Amino acid sequence: MKIAIIGTGRMGKALLKTFYKSYPDSILFSSRSKQKAQEVLEELALNLEVVPLEEALKADIIIPTLWFRDLLPWLQENKEGLKGKILIDITNPFNATFDDFTTAYDTSSAEEVQKIVPQSNVVGAFKNTYWVVFDEPVLQGLKSDIYVTSDDDDARRKVMELLNSLPFRVLDAGMLKNNRYIERMTLLSRELSLKAGNYPRISFNLWGLDHEGLQT
Ligand SMILES: NC(=O)c1ccc[n+]([C@@H]2O[C@H](COP(=O)([O-])OP(=O)(O)OC[C@H]3O[C@@H](n4cnc5c(N)ncnc54)[C@H](OP(=O)(O)O)[C@@H]3O)[C@@H](O)[C@H]2O)c1
Repeated sequence: MKIAIIGTGRMGKALLKTFYKSYPDSILFSSRSKQKAQEVLEELALNLEVVPLEEALKADIIIPTLWFRDLLPWLQENKEGLKGKILIDITNPFNATFDDFTTAYDTSSAEEVQKIVPQSNVVGAFKNTYWVVFDEPVLQGLKSDIYVTSDDDDARRKVMELLNSLPFRVLDAGMLKNNRYIERMTLLSRELSLKAGNYPRISFNLWGLDHEGLQT
């Protein structure tokens, strides 16, 4: 199974480092700028080659690490190449001043993404995971949670199995509509951590959930 990571920003780099540790032979890394992507590979000392987007879209699982506003036109452009693929959506629909949302309260970015690519299986994940948390996802013995959502049970299960090799607690968080809360929780955690003075090293671990059936 091949996993494509697209983009050289904070989340692109964090996901690349993390997935490479568990799946060094399965990663395809792409960016609008081949040079920037090559610099990232050098900086992280990863034994990979940058691939063009057309090549990355051949992967089974695609993770675009764009902002929601940029992802929408990107999805329209690449709709054909994304058909039949699992698309991991990490976006949070925050406004420019990070104090509100750009989607209505009866939807979420994950649901809007799924509407644009109905022939792909969208799986929401990493929505609450700030980029610095990937470097050390355990605090005082508690693993950072990843809430995995999808309207397709099989896609959700496949992604959970994939993520189970990463150093996080991976939870089945149900259907995409649950992102109406999950995405908004990220903004709440941002506000709380700014008050506490430790932004962006904050994450969720929903206490009391270690029962069989919630995890894969
Ligand atoms: N930052 C966090 O801690 C965090 C946590 C959870 C979720 N998220 C979500 O993750 C996403 C990325 O956040 P970030 O902080 O990593 O942002 P970022 O550092 O600004 O990176 C975004 C990347 O998207 C790529 N990009 C931008 N416009 C593009 C376009 N038109 N076509 C193709 N690629 C484009 C760029 O990579 P190239 O220049 O290489 O193309 C850019 O580096 C956002 O949707 C955010 O809501 C972020």
